[in-house]
Amino acid sequence: MARHLITSALPYINGIKHLGNMVGSMLPADVYARYLRQRGHDVLYICATDEHGTPAELAAKEQGLPVDAFCAQAHDAQKAVYDGFGLAFDHFGRSSSPQNAELTQHFARKLNENGFIEERAIRQVYSPADGRFLPDRYVEGTCPHCGYDKARGDQCENCTRVLDPTDLIEPRSAISGSTDLEVRETKHLFLLQSRLQGEVEAWIDEVADEWPQLASSIARKWLTEGLHDRAITRDLDWGVPVPADTWPDLAAEGKVFYVWFDAPIEYIGSTKEWADQDPTGARDWRSWWYGPDGADDVRYTEFMAKDNVPFHSVMFPATEMGVREPWKKVDHLKAFNWLTYYGGKFSTSQKRGVFTDQALEILPADYWRYFLMANAPESDDTSFTWEHFTATVNKDLADTLGNFVNRVLSFSKKRFGEEVPAGAPAGEAEARLGEQIAELLAEYEAQMEALQFRKAAAALRALWSAGNSYLEEKAPWLEIKTDKDAAALTLRTAMNLIHLYAVVSEPFIPTSAKAMRTAFALAGDTATWVSREEAKSLDSVPAGTRFIVPPVLFAKLTDDDLESYKERFGGEPA
Ligand code: 2FM
Ligand code: ZN
Repeated sequence: MARHLITSALPYINGIKHLGNMVGSMLPADVYARYLRQRGHDVLYICATDEHGTPAELAAKEQGLPVDAFCAQAHDAQKAVYDGFGLAFDHFGRSSSPQNAELTQHFARKLNENGFIEERAIRQVYSPADGRFLPDRYVEGTCPHCGYDKARGDQCENCTRVLDPTDLIEPRSAISGSTDLEVRETKHLFLLQSRLQGEVEAWIDEVADEWPQLASSIARKWLTEGLHDRAITRDLDWGVPVPADTWPDLAAEGKVFYVWFDAPIEYIGSTKEWADQDPTGARDWRSWWYGPDGADDVRYTEFMAKDNVPFHSVMFPATEMGVREPWKKVDHLKAFNWLTYYGGKFSTSQKRGVFTDQALEILPADYWRYFLMANAPESDDTSFTWEHFTATVNKDLADTLGNFVNRVLSFSKKRFGEEVPAGAPAGEAEARLGEQIAELLAEYEAQMEALQFRKAAAALRALWSAGNSYLEEKAPWLEIKTDKDAAALTLRTAMNLIHLYAVVSEPFIPTSAKAMRTAFALAGDTATWVSREEAKSLDSVPAGTRFIVPPVLFAKLTDDDLESYKERFGGEPA
């Protein structure tokens, strides 16, 4: 048994996320966490809403709410959707928590003591009409690279280039629309990342070979371009305040830390929230994050989309190193490409694509969980289309799995009653099947451990298919006419397959898996993983076990369904 710390990139607070966000961070983290828990490991899966910065302030303003009230409400709304998706976090925290503020200030003080922070005067956009500086998204204008006229001060959504507000052509205030902007000098804290370049490089050389290729290549590319010193404070009302004991002047001016400085620290902050919530005080947050050797008995895996890789592979580790305390650094970084909507971008701001709350209005979580993971954008971007979605649901979930379960249980009930029939002892076909199942299971486990989710889903599908082939080969509906015992053996074996499927499908489709598992009245039954021997012998559900036929697990989607989805969400190629 090992200790596994798992985090998924913190979703921004401003609005419900789309399916692309889900498949690129939280969902694979949940699948992996569930798998490891079933295998008996000590798992801590931590996430939170990323609540600071201009996106939160602007979204609150749009809704006419104070930013703290907006965040509280938006956090609950996101959490409700994630519950609906079956995401089994150990804790889903908030980066605006006091725990995170305390840790963020601690990190900043330590970086300063170690000579990695410097105060520098910089030129920033100031709006006399608004009476304030306009950082990041508070300025809009035309992108100097591609000419897009709604580019934001921090990044152009059209060409994805990272920008500084002073780069924009014809800038205007996102608050008042005022174009009467000037550039004024103001002081900010800079993190001297350039001084940590060598250390980060040495660390990447040590760890990144083990990471899936997408993450390691982005990390190395970023390091080749060089680590630059960067401003880690902003002129905003909403954020972790710069501590007055260390920087009285900046604190008096009301400066706060930049959202990308405090967000990764919230992985630790959220773990502390988790510990503080336990009335018995038995949860030891530090043991997951801090220790003489950086908690090296813990294996830490992070999940994120590719745009987040530089921050997690290089910048946050640089921060952790500069603190000169033994904080846990990422062991394994799993990154994802983009899920597109008919080849175009899913866009939160332009409301294009399928949002996670809408997805759950249409179909239960398991349909989405399976489809998204079976088509996860691992080696390349993947396009979501309703045609592909409905075809996959029908073939894999409704036909290969759902129909198998229903057919076997209904037929057995009709012919042998409500208990698993005994029948003949297992023969050659069952031995062959057992070997095949054990082999496929080993393949499934290997892919899960390598974080190759598409391949893991393919192995799971192959396990389901093996049951169908066995059933076709044995044809119990014919056997029953000549040899009742032979038919009973086939059904008992198939029911054992159903139980095995229930256990091993749990990470992908937890609700349906539970319905399958609890169809059998097995005393003390749990979803504990299947051993190789159990897979081979297929006899964990003995003859005489009572069972029920659960309601249809997956409804088949019709052409009318397909048309209605396309009509609601638009289905045209971009
Ligand atoms: O890109 C994003 O959605 C960010 N909110 C991710 C933050 S991850 C972590 F560092 F907090
Ligand atoms: Zn641009």
